[in-house]
Amino acid sequence: MGMIAEHMSCIKQSAASVVSARATELRQQGKDVVSLSAGEPDFPTPEHVQLAGIRAIVEGKTKYPPIPGILPLRQAVCRKLARENGLDYTPEQVIAGAGAKQVIFNALAVTLDPGDEVIVPAPYFGCYIEETALCRGVPVVVETTQDDGFRLDPARLEAAITPRTKWLILNNPNNPSGAVLDLDRLQAIAEVLQRHPQVWVLSDDIYEHLIYDGRAFHSILDAAPDLKDRTLVVNGFSKTFSMTGWRLGYGAGPLDLIKNMTKYQSQTTSGACQVSQWAGVAALDGDMGFAARQRAIFQERRDLVVQMLAAVPGLRVVRPEGAFYVYISCADLIGRAAPGGKTIASDADFANYLLDAGVAVIPGDAFGLSPFVRISFATDTASLKEACRRIADACAALG
Ligand SMILES: Cc1ncc(COP(=O)(O)O)c(C=O)c1O
Repeated sequence: MGMIAEHMSCIKQSAASVVSARATELRQQGKDVVSLSAGEPDFPTPEHVQLAGIRAIVEGKTKYPPIPGILPLRQAVCRKLARENGLDYTPEQVIAGAGAKQVIFNALAVTLDPGDEVIVPAPYFGCYIEETALCRGVPVVVETTQDDGFRLDPARLEAAITPRTKWLILNNPNNPSGAVLDLDRLQAIAEVLQRHPQVWVLSDDIYEHLIYDGRAFHSILDAAPDLKDRTLVVNGFSKTFSMTGWRLGYGAGPLDLIKNMTKYQSQTTSGACQVSQWAGVAALDGDMGFAARQRAIFQERRDLVVQMLAAVPGLRVVRPEGAFYVYISCADLIGRAAPGGKTIASDADFANYLLDAGVAVIPGDAFGLSPFVRISFATDTASLKEACRRIADACAALG
């Protein structure tokens, strides 16, 4: 009997962290690699938020925080949800955690009994699958298609629901596809959920402020306010405020769920870093100019990358409407031969081939839909141009 639980053999390391580590290793060996694997904005945290963190340290706000988060943060979250989303929550219905990732984990941990099912549309953010498995639940993957803009199909959703279904995880805008669900599609999804009252919705809205072309964000609760008593809204600071390293996220939902997540957190991580929480108050209550500027820059980069890669024979690109990723089909390249003679048999092979060509991307198998690769455009324009040139040359060199 080994020391590590058997169960761990089913859990995958985060793909982004594996690819980023590999790119760093290659760079250390002197290879020139442009990494398009990062899931984080490349800007510093806005200055007024930095200063709020520094002030918290200097003022001694460095003790254990309350388990669900400091009241001023939970109040600021309530103001944000009312102001931006038209949602009415009390601070008791809000919990802060060490990133949205931990909030999602806590929600799954307190709701899943062994064998309970969680519906996850693919392509997906990998942690939904692994966190479900860590909580002894069963992920049920519902694939979307590039032709349908990677949007969840209500009929396929309904076909996947069973009496054991506890959650549907909706990530809108989506990592890795950049798909944004419009109100019509959300309404159609809500109609399915209204027929299955045992299914809760985990609405991961972390890319809410990264929607392009002037389009508005809509959540499932805009489409169906009646689902509020079985919805957990998850959001955070990592993307909107470029605060990935502060490790702060939050959830808002029904009181009993939040109470149980608080109980769970009390025996695991305790409250999220207090310094980060004070910075979070400044972010939520402060000027949103940073988010708007960041969005404008990302939109320009998206247009550049889509223009350059759509012109590459063999790649199929759908223009993402949100987030900072493009999910590119490499189906037409499968079966082609690399210059050394090796056949590209999968998206993992294609990603490895691109790594040899000096570009780090993440293969679609990490997101549950193949054959695709995800590229992140959260990097500077010069690097993006160089990476796209290398990708084009690498594709042209295939036999
Ligand atoms: C869809 C999605 N949700 C949650 C997270 C994690 O956010 P946090 O940094 O708040 O844990 C990410 C990060 O990549 C993400 O892409």
